Amino acid sequence: MTGATRRFAIPALALAALAAPVAAAPGDVVKTRIAGFRELGAAFKNVNDELKGSAPQTYVMQLSARQIRDFARQQYSWFPQGSGPQAGVKTAAKPDIWAKGAEFKAAQDNFAKQADAFAKVAGTGDTANIRAQAKLLGQSCGACHRAFRTESRD
Ligand code: HEC
Repeated sequence: MTGATRRFAIPALALAALAAPVAAAPGDVVKTRIAGFRELGAAFKNVNDELKGSAPQTYVMQLSARQIRDFARQQYSWFPQGSGPQAGVKTAAKPDIWAKGAEFKAAQDNFAKQADAFAKVAGTGDTANIRAQAKLLGQSCGACHRAFRTESRD
């Protein structure tokens, strides 16, 4: 495969994953998604706990930043068609995720962008910059939650 083909092959695959109908049982997909978000939340909490303390540990924030960046890549596969609210499935995902696909994708992309930027800045070990970028990262979580997540899961 040439370099040029490879560059095109990856987005095409990503698109196919997005359009593919849910293969596993919807309940299992939702459980995996929620477990992923919980781990993401725990990783981000570790960052914020360090930043609140008197001596933020760079290596803890760097490790968490890599985890967050990995979750930001994985989240693209967490919302297959058919994994929205339905009988027998407890999810806080709003139907708009699928009804307004382009807007949702923009929220996912913004999160991925902020997560990449955060991993970079964590690598520098500059606490002031890490703090500023952590804020932007947190805003990307909040923006998606406000638009696409319900208050309670039922
Ligand atoms: C592109 C949209 C989007 C982004 C970005 C996003 N989330 Fe979420 N998040 C959701 C949705 C939708 C749910 C509900 C999932 C469900 O119930 O099926 C959720 C659920 C959660 C949960 C609850 C899991 C549970 O116990 O039910 C946590 C914690 C969470 N997100 C943390 C984060 C953090 C931290 C970030 C950023 C670092 C983030 N999320 C970024 C959409 C997003």
